[in-house]
Amino acid sequence: MRNGNHLGSPGTMNKDKGSLEQFEHHFKLINEELGSSITTDFSLVSDITNYSVLGEGKRLRPLLFVLSSELCGYAGKDVYRISTIFELIHSASLLHDDVLDNAETRRKKPAARNVWGNPAAVLAGDFLYAHATAIAAECNNLEFIKVLSHTTRRMVEGQFVELGHTHNWHLGVDKYLDIIIAKTAALISAACACGGIIAGAPKEEVESLKEFGLNLGIAFQLIDDLLDYTSSEEIIGKPVGKDLREGKITLPLIYVLSDFEKSEVDKLEHLFKNHGATDKDYDDLIKTVRRNGVIERVRGEAKKYVDKGETFLELFPESFTKKGLLGLGEYIVNREL
Ligand code: FPP
Ligand code: MG
Repeated sequence: MRNGNHLGSPGTMNKDKGSLEQFEHHFKLINEELGSSITTDFSLVSDITNYSVLGEGKRLRPLLFVLSSELCGYAGKDVYRISTIFELIHSASLLHDDVLDNAETRRKKPAARNVWGNPAAVLAGDFLYAHATAIAAECNNLEFIKVLSHTTRRMVEGQFVELGHTHNWHLGVDKYLDIIIAKTAALISAACACGGIIAGAPKEEVESLKEFGLNLGIAFQLIDDLLDYTSSEEIIGKPVGKDLREGKITLPLIYVLSDFEKSEVDKLEHLFKNHGATDKDYDDLIKTVRRNGVIERVRGEAKKYVDKGETFLELFPESFTKKGLLGLGEYIVNREL
């Protein structure tokens, strides 16, 4: 269903670019849908899924879906219900990810696995994923389902590749990018592309939204990996240096290591991989990353992806919705949470 209205909602007028405040009305409706859509007779399932999905969470993926569909003229009343698919898949993947990573905290709370144990957390992730596919089926749109299933496959592949490179202290930028594209950017890209698909947009528009989302998604994970070195647990709701402790070699560290001799990198790999590293070793390495101009370099790289992504919106006429989407790129680069 397309209505050709490119004006967007008045609530998006005259607000700062790069802030999420202007999207409050969307977040409210997304959260209402999330709150009412998960129904089950099993209290354990609803306890874990509500704990994992409701409350904290940026809702960036459903927001991107809503704005992308609006950009392509979609006026269906089910837009918020459909948008929850992207938050549900995201939450499902985080439930599983926390089991894979032995994570203690998530979204400023003990990780679900820490409260209910790994088996229940995995099953709750399965439930959310199944629930998301059930909502997707309601759309009666084969292309939409194809994009979603392809995307979740990519996410799993991304996790596999990441697993294979745990403690690979010689990981290069290209392989690192392959990992973050699959595990993170693919879903953000799908949220944008599916907004176009649900609106019945021409192929060219859907492809452009897909590329826009992909580049935004890369930037998003670059900043996520940066914050892991530069932020504080109070702000991001998970411990700083978590990637290092999990053996995840990410761009800030890759940049630092690129100035080291191979023998020095081998020594670090041996120390950290074999659990010989002390808290001081971790702190020292985190400080080295913070000292080396890496913060600006990674943010600069993220900005380049956002700029590249924005070029894919050029074919859409100017509108409040487009302005909102462009503002999200700025938010992603400058975010501190
Ligand atoms: C967080 O990354 C994890 C992801 C972005 C994707 C996880 C994907 C899967 C487990 C496979 C797909 C599963 C389903 C059910 C669809 P991170 O560990 O770098 O970030 P973090 O610091 O927030 O944990
Ligand atoms: Mg993790």
